[in-house]
Amino acid sequence: MPVITNIDDLKRIHRRRVPKMFYDYAESGSWTEQTFRENTSDFDKIRLRQRVAVDMSGRSTATKMIGEDVAMPVALAPVGLTGMQHADGEMKAARAAEAFGVPFTLSTMSINSIEDVASATNKPFWFQLYTMRDEDYVSRLIERARAAKCSALVITLDLQILGQRHKDIKNGLSAPPKLTLATMANLATKWRWGIEMLQTKNRSFGNIVGHVSNISDAANLSAWTAEQFDPTLDWSKIAKIKEQWGGKVILKGILDAEDAKMAMQVGADAIIVSNHGGRQLDGALSSIRVLPSILDAVGDQVEVHLDSGIRSGQDVLKAMAMGAKGTYIGRAFVYGLGAMGQAGVTRALEVIHKELDTTMALCGETKVSNLGRHNLLVPKGFEGDWQDCC
Ligand code: GLV
Repeated sequence: MPVITNIDDLKRIHRRRVPKMFYDYAESGSWTEQTFRENTSDFDKIRLRQRVAVDMSGRSTATKMIGEDVAMPVALAPVGLTGMQHADGEMKAARAAEAFGVPFTLSTMSINSIEDVASATNKPFWFQLYTMRDEDYVSRLIERARAAKCSALVITLDLQILGQRHKDIKNGLSAPPKLTLATMANLATKWRWGIEMLQTKNRSFGNIVGHVSNISDAANLSAWTAEQFDPTLDWSKIAKIKEQWGGKVILKGILDAEDAKMAMQVGADAIIVSNHGGRQLDGALSSIRVLPSILDAVGDQVEVHLDSGIRSGQDVLKAMAMGAKGTYIGRAFVYGLGAMGQAGVTRALEVIHKELDTTMALCGETKVSNLGRHNLLVPKGFEGDWQDCC
């Protein structure tokens, strides 16, 4: 096994070990992938201020997200089809997150069900909800999350319609994979993945199959979303879901100051500044670029988190110093999972933790709560000099 020193090492192994259609699913943005690329390249534009001769002993990356203790401000993001990257991937990632002391968020479009993940963990996890046309099904999902003792509902707002990712169409993405000549030829080279998949019964969408009827193709993500996702979602429906849930609510997919204010008005406990990892509206700004305008709009009236583009502990530090109170990794943990299962997710968390801790020390800080703009060198015009639109 090669020595893993950074997230890119895990990505290279993930690519070798996991069937192409699932590697491509994780590693795609929509259309031209401009937003997907800029999510990471915009982080690179921000530089760090080195400070010296500061006592760096007794450092801690521990903090809180929505009032919950976290070992570092990095939650595992909801990622669809995680259990296709590695057998029982959601259960394994949730266990790794629990052992590390960070939140795990289970996607509605997961392979392991809410109940599977609850049976694999001891502490509450977060559940991500997509809103569907079938309101009874949504109600049942909410009740299942409650029965599983999930401690937050993460409602995704930016996917009423699926962004087009070219590779998924060309690869015929489905869970489980349909056995065409091309997929069989590719699967033949992924024997380790295949052996582990044969040992689990969980190979289709666990929160869906057996829980809803009248779906034309339950294995096909794009057919399912087109048929089932609710195109009429609006703020009043979000308020209704929040009321039914009654617990902590995180609204995911906020990229505009006006939407951030609406999220605050419906009483969100936190919002996630996110462009869905560049998988939805191609041409939207990167999350890190819009973060300052969202923070200006909501002040400290709602907790602001960020996802999309975090691939290192340095990115986490930049987002926190910019003013976020928490971050999420999606691809970074999926690379680990695809590469080495649960141990790979643990390794991804260790890598990010070490990068965050060392960077904090070299910036002269000992606590994440002390990070601020004073730690950053942000290029002039970073947010973009756009003509007033509104
Ligand atoms: C959501 O499920 C996605 O594919 O981005």
